[in-house]
Amino acid sequence: MTAIVLAAGKGERLGLNTPKQFIKINGKEMVKIAVERMFKLNPRIIILTTPKDYVERTRKLFEGVNSIKIIEGGKTRAESVLKALELVNEDDEVVLIHDGARPFFPVDKTLRCVRAAEEIGAATLAVPVKDTIAISSDNKIASFPDRSKLWALQTPQCFKAALIKKAHELLKKDNFLPTDDTSLILRYNLSEVKIVEGEHYNIKVTYPVDLAFASVIMEELVNE
Ligand code: CTP
Ligand code: MG
Repeated sequence: MTAIVLAAGKGERLGLNTPKQFIKINGKEMVKIAVERMFKLNPRIIILTTPKDYVERTRKLFEGVNSIKIIEGGKTRAESVLKALELVNEDDEVVLIHDGARPFFPVDKTLRCVRAAEEIGAATLAVPVKDTIAISSDNKIASFPDRSKLWALQTPQCFKAALIKKAHELLKKDNFLPTDDTSLILRYNLSEVKIVEGEHYNIKVTYPVDLAFASVIMEELVNE
């Protein structure tokens, strides 16, 4: 398995000067927490994308660590994925794609996600939606989807390498800005995508309040 950890974003919604993945949670950079956890899955290699100005700093952060390749990411999340995929040669292995801003993904359930991708081609961690979701029109509620069918997708997401490479190849000629990778698999009709139920503590640090949640999660919830 090859793992791609995405850490080339700017963290604009968090609103700090430093990209969020380099912010420390209880003393450790978020990206470091995520990568150390990823090594528990025994990947062949971890490909880590960072912003251009952070490549050197990130190399220092992982000095002496084997099986990690640190590269400059792209302008969008999808471009960062594409750049990482260009370094994946094996077509029959599983590629796992993960947001570096989700440091607390559950290792056991991620293993299930990898197995599901081996079996059917693609899989994602997800949790049942806890809020009532409405579809709006002109800032008024237009309709309600049936909550029992709604899932909030997380990462890791896992794919057969050939499938995800094909998906990103097709995206090059498509005017679409995906926020994850399973959406491409369905958009181009490449495979079914299995849902593996994850954990609510696998948050993506996005807004300032998430830093407080992250600190508590690290201290009290995650014991793997
Ligand atoms: N990411 C990336 N390359 C980009 C944009 C995003 O590798 N060009 C990564 C981010 O570092 C993050 C993950 O993709 O780990 C999910 O993206 P998101 O949560 O949107 O992070 P940011 O884009 O950094 O945040 P924002 O959208 O608030 O600016
Ligand atoms: Mg973003």
